[in-house]
Amino acid sequence: MRKTTAKHLTNDNEGIAAAVRFLNDGRLVAFATETVYGLGADARDGQAVARIYDAKGRPQFNPLIVHVQDFDTAQRYGVFDAQAAQLAAAFWPGPLTLVVPLATGHGLSPLVTAGLDTVGIRVPAHPLARQLLAAFNGPIAAPSANPSGRISPTTADHVLAGLSDRIDAVLDGGPCPVGLESTIVGGAPLALLRHGGLAQSDIEALSGPLAAAGPDIRAPGQLASHYAPRARIRLNAMHASADEVLLGFGAMPCDLNLSARGDLIEAAANLFGHLHNLDARDMPIAVAPIPNTGLGRAINDRLNRAAAPR
Ligand code: TXA
Ligand code: MG
Repeated sequence: MRKTTAKHLTNDNEGIAAAVRFLNDGRLVAFATETVYGLGADARDGQAVARIYDAKGRPQFNPLIVHVQDFDTAQRYGVFDAQAAQLAAAFWPGPLTLVVPLATGHGLSPLVTAGLDTVGIRVPAHPLARQLLAAFNGPIAAPSANPSGRISPTTADHVLAGLSDRIDAVLDGGPCPVGLESTIVGGAPLALLRHGGLAQSDIEALSGPLAAAGPDIRAPGQLASHYAPRARIRLNAMHASADEVLLGFGAMPCDLNLSARGDLIEAAANLFGHLHNLDARDMPIAVAPIPNTGLGRAINDRLNRAAAPR
């Protein structure tokens, strides 16, 4: 991975303009929200989203929250039923993430939702996050800006301590006023998926009692065969047999290649799209070996789940 030292961007027009340039270039910018600092990338750009997982060292593709500037924009990406729309009207902007079905023509990278057909969306309240979203004028995918397994950052210094050599910039909005991640709700019946900065009782005052999250929605990445292709998958294949299609990696003859130049970031960006595409051909899928380093671990984690017996 490219060695960088993150630029420290200040809370002014120049800082925001620089952050927007990085995002437009497919680079990573951590930014203040009222909950915790997010590690942002253009949610439509698969390689930029792949860099988020790479920078965090996440061993799995967990779905990321998409940040947008207002409810109208949110409806480009998600479908809000009456109950979700009511919660959005009451609590956005603010520390609430709503998990809703993906909208038709959403244009988000499938890596953002980790291949799910739902998306977590939030309109942050922090003035700097709002200015950034308005200036960028696009959806920003952002998990908390900490290395995987470490605590969430609530100052720009926390971000730099954890990720300084792995991201392009941090947009400093001072200490996060809430200091806890957003509360996440979703599903039908509506369930509490994660406790956070908005109290459950405040939500329930509007929605009525929230259901407890089932195992499938609470930890989508953890289910062995979650969102597996219909086709049988054979891993570590050097060649396809006559009745298989081959998903390649590196320079090799194959039906579709995750990255002909052997780039794991490009491979991650292509993973879900290529699997969907090959699955539509109704033949078993043979998959070339993927190095188990860096982002390769998350790619192999997902391929192993897709190949698990169902
Ligand atoms: O306050 C926050 O929510 C911060 C700031 C930056 O917005 N973000 C944050 O993101 O905490 P992260 O990636 O650390 O946590 C996102 C959580 C994950 O546990 C993920 O599983 C869940 O949101 N999530 C996102 N999309 C989902 C989906 N479609 N279905 C179920 N869970 C989803
Ligand atoms: Mg987190």
